Amino acid sequence: LIIDPDTLDPQSRYKLLIGSVVPRPIAWTSTVSREGVHNLAPFSFFTVASRNPPMLCISVGPRTDQPPNTKDTLNNIAEMGEFVINIVSLPLSNSMYESSGTHPPMADEFEKAGLTPAPCEVVTAPRLEEAAVSMECLLDRVLQLGTDHLVIGRMVRFHVRDELYKNGRIDVAKLQPLGRLAGNYTKVETIFELPSEDF
Ligand SMILES: Cc1cc2nc3c(=O)[nH]c(=O)nc-3n(C[C@H](O)[C@H](O)[C@H](O)COP(=O)(O)O)c2cc1C
Repeated sequence: LIIDPDTLDPQSRYKLLIGSVVPRPIAWTSTVSREGVHNLAPFSFFTVASRNPPMLCISVGPRTDQPPNTKDTLNNIAEMGEFVINIVSLPLSNSMYESSGTHPPMADEFEKAGLTPAPCEVVTAPRLEEAAVSMECLLDRVLQLGTDHLVIGRMVRFHVRDELYKNGRIDVAKLQPLGRLAGNYTKVETIFELPSEDF
């Protein structure tokens, strides 16, 4: 089957994209508004954008409830020039899901999800106390790409829980990162090296 994406409606294109680019990591992104309201939301269009300097990116789509208005996360990042990406470990999955609901801009999404904001070193946005890994970012640039905005940030601090840090590496088995598939999720159950005789 060969598909020209231009022949598809946007929703069908989106379904093929999110079913093909899998599994995706989840950037559980914390920000603060100019008024000081904390915001937390997950973004699975997320990756490392540069290793040197260390840069991360997330892609933020339009608000589904009121397109083409932009999401609170993007508004806060554009206003404050900073954000924090927290990694979702399995025990935090339901709280992550809860934080993806649409809440009014004045709602503190940490409070709503029963989570704890913790201070950062460089940015004023809070990190998530419950997260085993958090990365403070300063906004580098926002690229508008079609309907979406690619947010690129320079990562200026790692917060890593002690028991996950081994000889300069992250113990991924202990991190238990939650992965995003199309609409559903996956966990890291088997970790192996290549080449392998199993395949
Ligand atoms: C696992 C997961 C991944 C998501 N990934 C994205 C994404 O990559 N881009 C996006 O715009 N929205 C994504 N969403 C939806 C946002 O989290 C949702 O629109 C949220 O309400 C935005 O919150 P905000 O308005 O506080 O920024 C995702 C939701 C979930 C549950």
